[in-house]
Amino acid sequence: MTFDELKKELIASPKTWLVTGAAGFIGSNLVEALLTLDQTVVGLDNFSTGHQHNLDAVEKSVTRDQWENFTFYRGDICDYESCKKAIKGAQYVLHQAALGSVPRSIANPINTNASNVTGFLNLLEAAKEEKVLNFVYAASSSTYGDHPDLPKVEDKIGNPLSPYAVTKYVNELYADVFSRTYNFHSIGLRYFNVFGQRQDPEGAYAAVIPKWVSAVKNNETVYINGDGETSRDFCFIENVIQINLLAATCETNSKSEVYNVAVGDQTSLNQLIELIKENLNAPEFNKIEYRDFRAGDVRHSKASIEKAIKDLNYDPQFTMRQGLKKMLS
Ligand SMILES: NC(=O)c1ccc[n+]([C@@H]2O[C@H](COP(=O)([O-])OP(=O)(O)OC[C@H]3O[C@@H](n4cnc5c(N)ncnc54)[C@H](O)[C@@H]3O)[C@@H](O)[C@H]2O)c1
Repeated sequence: MTFDELKKELIASPKTWLVTGAAGFIGSNLVEALLTLDQTVVGLDNFSTGHQHNLDAVEKSVTRDQWENFTFYRGDICDYESCKKAIKGAQYVLHQAALGSVPRSIANPINTNASNVTGFLNLLEAAKEEKVLNFVYAASSSTYGDHPDLPKVEDKIGNPLSPYAVTKYVNELYADVFSRTYNFHSIGLRYFNVFGQRQDPEGAYAAVIPKWVSAVKNNETVYINGDGETSRDFCFIENVIQINLLAATCETNSKSEVYNVAVGDQTSLNQLIELIKENLNAPEFNKIEYRDFRAGDVRHSKASIEKAIKDLNYDPQFTMRQGLKKMLS
């Protein structure tokens, strides 16, 4: 089924979804997309890195009737009872709640492990008990670790390079074991540097695109870690929304799969800052400083998206450049 066909089908026959991490960047965009399709949505978040203003922005962008289809629980996925309460009645789960950021996990591996492993297992167990139709979760390209091949293909991974990468790989292992042990269906989406509206530019662990956009707008210094030739397969949020909905509703005999979520392109950090300057009409911006490489960072990243195209009908509508243009227009 194409994404357009799926959207029509969902509108005609609405479902009930649990979105964890609903007050975060990706979660709030998923909530907005689902409400716009007249779905019933439950959100769960503990506001550790998410914000009420993200939910307020969603409320403003949907109709009053659509907003009434949304129930929000403030709760921690490390608490099993909170997971059970939020998941009641859900047919599909889009599990986004986790502590992101490689450097955060290096500074505090215990905190990252609690949300990303204990919290993940709580939600997986609650989802199994609730007998949801499908459990889609945010995995990560960090799972490729030190594997040298480009593009990255799902079944070839290396050693993790950070505690964060370990937690995301453990998610895949648990999901796989649940499929074999309990016949439980799940799909992991290995996101590659997602960007778009509502991504937090603040704090030590902000992602590169919102951080640099904010710096250029405010004429503050942009710090480039390393020589700027480090590259990423940046993926616009609209592509991520598409694949979450396709993955949740796909019909497959396979019980546990992982898919790369990206566009299959590579942009270096040096190219990225030029693109941001161009889109912000700031050609004269030159407050750029190079500093040491960052511990735990993968040097190059580029995804093969063939598996998602083949199995899920994934059809990313935005290249990195188109996404950046839309975000900054
Ligand atoms: N943004 C990316 O480029 C990227 C790349 C790879 C993977 N991911 C994964 O995607 C997911 C969403 O990331 P994001 O960029 O939207 O980050 P985000 O920080 O904006 O959102 C995460 C949300 O989860 C919530 N949360 C964290 N721990 C929680 C807990 N214990 N209980 C309840 N809520 C909790 C936070 O408050 C936040 O609202 C995460 O699992 C992240 O690891 C993101």
